[in-house]
Amino acid sequence: MHSGKTLRTDAPVDHAGKGENFAPTDLLATALGTCFLTVMGISAKDKGWKLDEIKVEIDKKMTTKGLRKIESLSLQIDMPSDLKADQLQVLKNAMKDCPVLRNLNDSIKIKVNWNQLKKNKKTSLNFLPIKVFRETPQVKFFDAGVKDSNGSDVVIHHGAAISPPNDNEFEQYYVHRHQTDHNLVLEGKRTFTLLNPDWEEPHHVIYLNQEMGALQIPPGTYHQSVSGLEGSMVLNQALRDSDFDPSKEFIPVSLRDRGDLRKAKEADPVFWIWDDGKIRRLKLGLVSSEHKINHDLIFKRLKHIIQEDSQTTSKA
Ligand SMILES: [Fe+2]
Repeated sequence: MHSGKTLRTDAPVDHAGKGENFAPTDLLATALGTCFLTVMGISAKDKGWKLDEIKVEIDKKMTTKGLRKIESLSLQIDMPSDLKADQLQVLKNAMKDCPVLRNLNDSIKIKVNWNQLKKNKKTSLNFLPIKVFRETPQVKFFDAGVKDSNGSDVVIHHGAAISPPNDNEFEQYYVHRHQTDHNLVLEGKRTFTLLNPDWEEPHHVIYLNQEMGALQIPPGTYHQSVSGLEGSMVLNQALRDSDFDPSKEFIPVSLRDRGDLRKAKEADPVFWIWDDGKIRRLKLGLVSSEHKINHDLIFKRLKHIIQEDSQTTSKA
């Protein structure tokens, strides 16, 4: 290469490889995506515009019949929220100048979806209450149903565990595009960390127990969960739309590659905790250097704050 850089490739797992590096066809998909970004960047520079981050996600589909080749490439391009309609149109038009597109246009189905990011959406977190039918000292019998749920999974942590596991020193998160999760603790307790760069409060820590009900996690929200030494069991009753594809919905995303998620994680977290029959929402004003959170310490600190708070209220 002109730059002298080395790029490793590998065959994918469904084609005699280990899938440990880019497949050659991944590079072709990447060539198209980065070409779009480049021509838009050049066009913006010509106009003297300063562009915020543009993101492109590419979905590559291989043929399943006949000769093996790329059947289609679907591109999802996220444009910054502050662009005006006419600026957006200029950048969309610039795409036609992409040389890679000129080469590929007739041989691959190419679909482009544009999305203008709406920043600072309100937090959208809900807890679906459970309905207890009967409770005796040894027995709890309750309705765990979630309306319209069409998929369910159970994640058991036998002792201290983390889902998904870390990528060395970097945390990993799940994110769904076509599934809304409803996580209900069946046994023990589970701490969920949620990151959503589109929310005005992008960082949440939920100390989830059974009483809080099923934690609803909307699509596009990155989530990770941990258990203490005693472990825990969580039932997820999901709501999947017609585009749901299990091979794409459960791939861990590492913070190693995602500056936007690392930034979200540095935000002062909103803590959600069960106290005296209700869900409380609190902030501690943590600075970013404290963002490696010791959950046991924070949990105690929150309980202490709530206790002091209720004492002051009862004295007043
Ligand atoms: Fe999930």
